[in-house]
Amino acid sequence: MQFSYLVTLALASVVRGATLMEAIASQSTTLSTLNSLLAEQPALMQMLMGAKNITILAPSNDAFASFVQSPENKAAAADNATLMAVLEYHVLEGMHMSSDFTTKMEFFPTMLGASSNMTMGSMMMSNMSLSSVTGGQVVGGMKMGNMVEIMSGLKETSMVQTADLMFEGGVIHIIDSVLTIPKMPSVSAVDSQLTALAGALKATNLLMAVDMLKDVTIFAPSNAAFKAIGSATGSLTEQQLAGILEYHIINGTVGYSTLLSMGLANRTLPTLEGPDLRVQATGDKIFINGAQVQIADVLVSNGVMHVIDAVLNPANTTATANPTATTPAVMFQGAAAASNVPFTSGISATTTAPSATTQTAAAGLSVEQPAVGAIGAAALFGLVIAAL
Ligand SMILES: *[C@@H]1O[C@H](CO)[C@@H](O)[C@H](O)[C@H]1NC(C)=O
Ligand SMILES: *[C@@H]1O[C@H](CO)[C@@H](O)[C@H](O)[C@H]1NC(C)=O
Ligand SMILES: *[C@@H]1O[C@H](CO)[C@@H](O)[C@H](O)[C@H]1NC(C)=O
Ligand SMILES: *[C@@H]1O[C@H](CO)[C@@H](O)[C@H](O)[C@H]1NC(C)=O
Ligand SMILES: *[C@@H]1O[C@H](CO)[C@@H](O)[C@H](O)[C@H]1NC(C)=O
Ligand SMILES: *[C@@H]1O[C@H](CO)[C@@H](O)[C@H](O)[C@H]1NC(C)=O
Ligand SMILES: *[C@@H]1O[C@H](CO)[C@@H](O)[C@H](O)[C@H]1NC(C)=O
Repeated sequence: MQFSYLVTLALASVVRGATLMEAIASQSTTLSTLNSLLAEQPALMQMLMGAKNITILAPSNDAFASFVQSPENKAAAADNATLMAVLEYHVLEGMHMSSDFTTKMEFFPTMLGASSNMTMGSMMMSNMSLSSVTGGQVVGGMKMGNMVEIMSGLKETSMVQTADLMFEGGVIHIIDSVLTIPKMPSVSAVDSQLTALAGALKATNLLMAVDMLKDVTIFAPSNAAFKAIGSATGSLTEQQLAGILEYHIINGTVGYSTLLSMGLANRTLPTLEGPDLRVQATGDKIFINGAQVQIADVLVSNGVMHVIDAVLNPANTTATANPTATTPAVMFQGAAAASNVPFTSGISATTTAPSATTQTAAAGLSVEQPAVGAIGAAALFGLVIAAL
């Protein structure tokens, strides 16, 4: 991936002992918007001032200017509770210096939805409907060349522009776009053009039930995966379809790719439907039964979603990975591809991925949005769709 600009991770002025207010105020040319937003949230400010051992991802003035270009974000910024949630999502538990990030994506709990007894503060202020992840909603973080990339909801990415600004409670990194709070699975699926999955969940009245779960892992078959078994989908009863969908959901475990490729590799996981799924990891590939993870780690409000290339079959739990296969597995015996993607009638994939709206807004900014920021989930899933 190429960046349209390069900012070195120069060690910015290290002001150990500065309060958070002082540290933010010292960056007035880039952080004055954040400064005034925090001033409007005295309770949050007070909590942050007392916090120890935190990392603040501080969106720059340009980042906020770009953020409020979309009507949805503008409304969010004007709503105190939502603004609070947005700001909380930018506060990470623990002190993570830029040198701590590695070339492998890791996941860091934030203050959004964190339990009230976290080290960060004693007040519970989050709107829990925005995060049902025990321990707090996460961001992904990794090194990209000499830059640090932060991944948020809908696979949006932000780049650290200025790293390692110290203050007495931790460290601040200035980032070039406002993080996207992970959205509910139903919204993320539609935004991500997983319209067959969204339609199937809707047809079985499971859409809301899935949104309401806590700490989930959802294996989300691509539209191509549903199309590949299209001859079989028409004859399924609602109950059979529901059973198949529930076989794609792990309740109670948030299996980020890091966990699937390490701790959970070669293990089985019980599903909402009952029968287990087998996780296998070879090299950098992750398989769930016979399906391969195509797009990992779409963060959702209640956990994580991974796009897989085949529909899993609860009546075929012995299907295993074939790492050398060149085409996706078909785990339903006798099923053939249909000419249309099933379950998609009435589901439109209008994307609200922030990158779709901020691109034009960014054009006038002195620091251009990196090209990578525009490759949100929508663009990635677009490729999947195009491959049909
Ligand atoms: C939002 O917060 C500001 C600053 O605390 C306050 O003046 C304003 O009344 C609040 N708005 C609402 C709708 O609560
Ligand atoms: C700081 O936070 C990290 C990550 O949550 C934790 O591992 C570490 O023990 C904490 N350190 C202190 C001194 O509290
Ligand atoms: C934090 O809260 C959880 C559940 O709310 C509880 O199980 C745990 O003991 C608490 N930890 C501390 C240190 O109070
Ligand atoms: C929590 O957030 C949701 C979604 O933004 C909103 O509909 C709801 O009114 C909020 N609840 C509170 C108590 O702020
Ligand atoms: C999901 O797990 C939670 C916690 O174990 C449990 O309370 C809940 O009933 C489960 N939901 C379903 C639909 O099985
Ligand atoms: C999983 O099993 C394969 C084959 O037995 C093995 O090569 C691999 O190291 C195992 N992975 C883990 C994380 O245990
Ligand atoms: C189970 O899946 C495998 C592919 O992994 C397929 O070859 C087989 O036909 C499937 N069996 C049934 C009963 O659907």
